[in-house]
Amino acid sequence: MSSKSDAKQEREIKIVGFLCNWCSYGGADTAGVCRFRQPTDLRIIRIPCTGRIDPLMIVKSLIQGADGVLVSGCHPNDCHYAVGNFYARRRMEVLKRFLPYMGFQSDRFRYTWVSASEGQIWQQVVTDFSETIHRLGPNPGLHQTVDSAPAVSWF
Ligand code: FES
Repeated sequence: MSSKSDAKQEREIKIVGFLCNWCSYGGADTAGVCRFRQPTDLRIIRIPCTGRIDPLMIVKSLIQGADGVLVSGCHPNDCHYAVGNFYARRRMEVLKRFLPYMGFQSDRFRYTWVSASEGQIWQQVVTDFSETIHRLGPNPGLHQTVDSAPAVSWF
């Protein structure tokens, strides 16, 4: 008979991936076509551009039980909408800093750039992120106490 904590440990890890349609989704597809071995934890959501990502989509994923969230888009200067990934980069950087204040480890979120031809790079990115999330274990999410958040220092 397993205890409640054993059941928590055995829970399947879930990673949400928001991938830009034009580059990273293509990269993931290329990796699949080339039969590169990939972790199976990732649930991919195809988006038109990383500039379309609202940071709340990432927070909501974590609140609703994702153990990790990966955002991936076109390389800087390759965005099909010119500057979407530049907007995204700014938002993602701010979000990463705020996550601990919301009770989430910032390592549970990562953003990266992968082009459609970079199937092997996609494989490395997703494998590395999946290993990180497995090391962190299931997302304690909202069950974390406020005490575990870093102290706020304005100066
Ligand atoms: S179209 Fe890919 S990041 Fe903008």
